[in-house]
Amino acid sequence: MGSGQVVLVTGAASGIGAATARAFAARGDRVVLADLNAEGLEDIATSLADPAEHLALPVDLTDSTATDALVARAVDRFGALDAVHANAGICPPERPFTETSPALAERILDVNVKGTFNTLRSAIPSVRDGGAVVITASDSGLLAHPGAAVYAASKIALIGLGRCLAAELASRRVRVNMVCPGGVDTPLTRGAYGETADEVIHDYTLTNPLGRIATAEDIAHAVLFLTDALHVTGVSLRVDGGDGLMGAL
Ligand code: NAI
Repeated sequence: MGSGQVVLVTGAASGIGAATARAFAARGDRVVLADLNAEGLEDIATSLADPAEHLALPVDLTDSTATDALVARAVDRFGALDAVHANAGICPPERPFTETSPALAERILDVNVKGTFNTLRSAIPSVRDGGAVVITASDSGLLAHPGAAVYAASKIALIGLGRCLAAELASRRVRVNMVCPGGVDTPLTRGAYGETADEVIHDYTLTNPLGRIATAEDIAHAVLFLTDALHVTGVSLRVDGGDGLMGAL
């Protein structure tokens, strides 16, 4: 697609979403940054080179009225969308399946699945023909992730959603792809592992074939690639330093 596009990024206040917002802005795209965390969103939006070119909108993506309003504001400002990075998500600390409360399971599915559904249901009518959607799924949607069954289920759901959308939207040349990160050093990962995070990340680097954990910028790079790849649709691209090669997370 190249630069000069209008891109909606959810989960833009932190981690991967903040990195993709920065990457799109750096190449001259106008970014609609959306996140539940209004303060963090403002920090990222004002740190972009030309903040007035972009739009930062606090939103709870689990609320479909709010996602409709988000897209209406974006369209009011920019006319239409060229690309969407549906990225916001949560991943609670690992725990045995039977210790996952119904309330926690509901929250994971609400944010990761319903939030992404709401985002795309609201946004897709405003995505120009020939545009792009990238959904942040996860390696956990492709490989077993013990201790994170509901999270993995939510990410598999997103892969299914994305594949069907890719087929449905092909006639409009709108491409829909999934980025599937392995371990990424973001506030989500550090929050999930708490005080043990440095140790967990160190251990991860020992087994990862490329010998390190991804940065948020590594994932952003793949998101921009998928946004620009005009003959790629319906794929789930692992960005995991080779974890999938070894068949383990
Ligand atoms: P993060 O916690 O740094 O950022 C996620 C953002 O989503 C936060 O700013 C949060 O406020 C926002 N968010 C959460 N619930 C929301 C809601 N209801 N409405 C609007 N915004 C909401 O996390 P990170 O690591 O950047 O994760 C981004 C995506 O990448 C998530 O979907 C996650 O599942 C996925 N992922 C992350 C991996 C990792 O190792 N960090 C690995 C594989 C996938």
